Amino acid sequence: MNKSVRKAIIAGNWKMNKARPEAKELLEAIKPLVANAEGKVEVIACVPFTNLETAISVTDGSNVKIGAENVHFEKSGAFTGEISADMLVELGVEYVVIGHSERRQYFGETDETVNKRTKAALAAGLKPIVCVGELLWERECNITEEVIARQIKLDLFDVSKEDVKKTVIAYEPVWAIGTGKTATADQAEEVCGFIRSTLAKIYDQATADAVTIQYGGSMNAGNAAELLSKPNVDGGLIGGASLKAADFNTIVQAAVEG
Ligand code: 13P
Repeated sequence: MNKSVRKAIIAGNWKMNKARPEAKELLEAIKPLVANAEGKVEVIACVPFTNLETAISVTDGSNVKIGAENVHFEKSGAFTGEISADMLVELGVEYVVIGHSERRQYFGETDETVNKRTKAALAAGLKPIVCVGELLWERECNITEEVIARQIKLDLFDVSKEDVKKTVIAYEPVWAIGTGKTATADQAEEVCGFIRSTLAKIYDQATADAVTIQYGGSMNAGNAAELLSKPNVDGGLIGGASLKAADFNTIVQAAVEG
């Protein structure tokens, strides 16, 4: 297992936060802080749809990449309120979060729609950040591995070996999101390692070794270095702490040093 063959990726998931002037201010603050990460750690801000154009223009020429928080699987048509992958690509978006547990929990996302969205994103040239993770109850029932294996198999069904290498997997235990309860570094490593072995079974070891696997769930300036020191934790998907430039930068610097 060679961590250095993979890209370390720190991504902020802003969720439903920040109007455009605040988004501009936050990105202007983040840009100089993380400039030294160029070539070492990919830095991404996944922002609300209404902020995408502003975010892309503010980060132009910097090493901060912009992602969306969701994408629809159809190319166009009568899907009121939805945004297609082509629309995102046309704006200059590079990444997109798919299957976040909040989408699964509140908006009826299923592994089937996550799979469709992932394939549509890849077909349009976007890099998907596919989120998986178990509920607290599932962990307590000792079925974390079954849950994760099922999500990985269904969410990546029919995704080619070449495409999976462009896909980022985010392991986000649902019980750790926004709760201040972080998985321990050992728990994060255990599941990220399990995700990699599941990918190796579906594809092959070399392909699995090339996929960036992030941890997400109350990752912050204080715990990032330990989480990121683990061999299978290649980055982070950060909610709350990505809304503060200094905290987000501390996490980026932990990845640069890790
Ligand atoms: P928090 O970092 O706020 O727990 O959110 C994690 C998350 O859901 C990132 O996608």
